[in-house]
Amino acid sequence: MGFQALLASVLLVTTVSAQLSGSVGPTTPLSQKSHICNVLDYGGSIGSSDIGPAITSAFNNCVLKNSGSTLYVPAGNYQMQTWVDLKEGTKWAFRLDGFITRASTSGGNMIAIENANDFEFYSANSAGGIQGYGYQCRNAGPRLIRIINSQNWSLHDIVLVDSPEFHLVIQSGQNGEVYNMAIRGGNLGGSDGVDVWGNNYWIHDVEVTNRDECVTVKSPATNILVERIWCNQSGGSAIGSLSDGTAIENVVYRNIYTNGGNQAFMIKSNKGSGYVRNVQFQNFIARGTAYGLNIDQFWSSQTPGQGAGVQLQNITFSNWDGNVADGVKRPPVQLICADGAPCFDINLSNVNMWSQTNQAIVKCESAYGSGVACIKNSSSHTSYVVVTQSITQPSGYSTPTTMAGDLASGFATNAAIPTPTIPTSFFPGLPQISPLAKNQ
Ligand SMILES: *[C@@H]1O[C@H](CO)[C@@H](O)[C@H](O)[C@H]1NC(C)=O
Ligand SMILES: *[C@@H]1O[C@H](CO)[C@@H](O)[C@H](O)[C@H]1NC(C)=O
Ligand SMILES: *[C@@H]1O[C@H](CO)[C@@H](O)[C@H](O)[C@H]1NC(C)=O
Ligand SMILES: *[C@@H]1O[C@H](CO)[C@@H](O)[C@H](O)[C@H]1NC(C)=O
Ligand SMILES: *[C@@H]1O[C@H](CO)[C@@H](O)[C@H](O)[C@H]1NC(C)=O
Repeated sequence: MGFQALLASVLLVTTVSAQLSGSVGPTTPLSQKSHICNVLDYGGSIGSSDIGPAITSAFNNCVLKNSGSTLYVPAGNYQMQTWVDLKEGTKWAFRLDGFITRASTSGGNMIAIENANDFEFYSANSAGGIQGYGYQCRNAGPRLIRIINSQNWSLHDIVLVDSPEFHLVIQSGQNGEVYNMAIRGGNLGGSDGVDVWGNNYWIHDVEVTNRDECVTVKSPATNILVERIWCNQSGGSAIGSLSDGTAIENVVYRNIYTNGGNQAFMIKSNKGSGYVRNVQFQNFIARGTAYGLNIDQFWSSQTPGQGAGVQLQNITFSNWDGNVADGVKRPPVQLICADGAPCFDINLSNVNMWSQTNQAIVKCESAYGSGVACIKNSSSHTSYVVVTQSITQPSGYSTPTTMAGDLASGFATNAAIPTPTIPTSFFPGLPQISPLAKNQ
């Protein structure tokens, strides 16, 4: 390895460890989870019309009774009508090689994992997952997977298709890793890909096709690293939406590729209180999104909070290359901060966002920092009304790279969505960080 490459790899490792507050993922390897709890031995069968009770039985009667177990759903197709809530498992794995189809419209979560510790949820053939047939019961059915208050865990190599509601929710907990996922939802709101809050999470190598959140951080959250994300005609990634008592810090997004959809990145709130601070957005590529870099603290889809505004501070955006569909209608960069809590230390460096129409404006309100024409630079931060300026093409802009397999428009909302395979690259020119389980 040459000196530059060595230096680059050393820097990479340092940055990862600096961003996360400690190790993530299960504390013991799969080799120590060799007691197999096969659903076929607990009342399940391939082709079953409801595999839920067999999963619950294998969990209660086998996993919880034998430390070091793997709950195993073998390859094959299953339907599911009874949702499962697997609580308090320690030192265990859930190997989902089979493919499960939703067959009931009950609300809740098809698979919830609660208070797990030292846990790995994966598919060894990189083809296991869930088909939600969301088009049959849009916003009136279950979410697919929710991991609640769990520690030292990972979720990987799972495919999630067309949830009636959100696909994957990570609620509180800590030290988790999510990677090598393909998520495909309908082309409409309420189809969130990954929503995460909690402490010390690493989300990487995830592909989301939908029309709502791609990979989004919610409050409260600390030490979150999101990288190598492919938002394929998605709503785009975000922090928010935020209201009273927001507490988000030490977040890094990097190597984020967004093709079409709503935004390259958005921070969204409406009034409210608390803070978002010490956040970095590095190496973004976006093509043909509606909005680009979008801070909107007057976001109309959010009920206004009690406070004067969530305080945004010390947020840097570096190395962006992208275009929006119409940069006059919707600016490639807009920083609309709360008048009751003007944002500051908002710095853009080498942010080259432009428009497919070759004409663009930028907008700022109550925003302090550097790197875009309309932002103000001052050590005092008083509110100011929106400033709109025309810009010319940034000198560092180049028509952004594409990915083979970009989707030209979203998936239909009134028909079944085909099951994807998990890609091996999620950002132009970068391989995935860990190989697919099936290739190991
Ligand atoms: C999770 O892992 C960390 C470090 O690997 C360890 O310190 C901690 O005790 C673990 N948590 C639990 C609940 O065992
Ligand atoms: C700003 O945030 C960065 C991390 O993004 C952090 O290293 C730095 O210390 C913060 N600066 C201040 C003044 O808090
Ligand atoms: C942002 O830019 C301002 C003005 O140039 C500078 O004082 C501040 O330290 C910068 N902050 C960060 C986080 O880079
Ligand atoms: C911001 O203003 C300070 C002085 O008030 C100046 O030193 C600094 O260079 C300015 N930064 C930018 C990015 O214009
Ligand atoms: C992204 O869209 C392309 C084009 O349809 C498709 O080939 C690819 O599978 C999509 N990714 C996923 C995971 O749906």
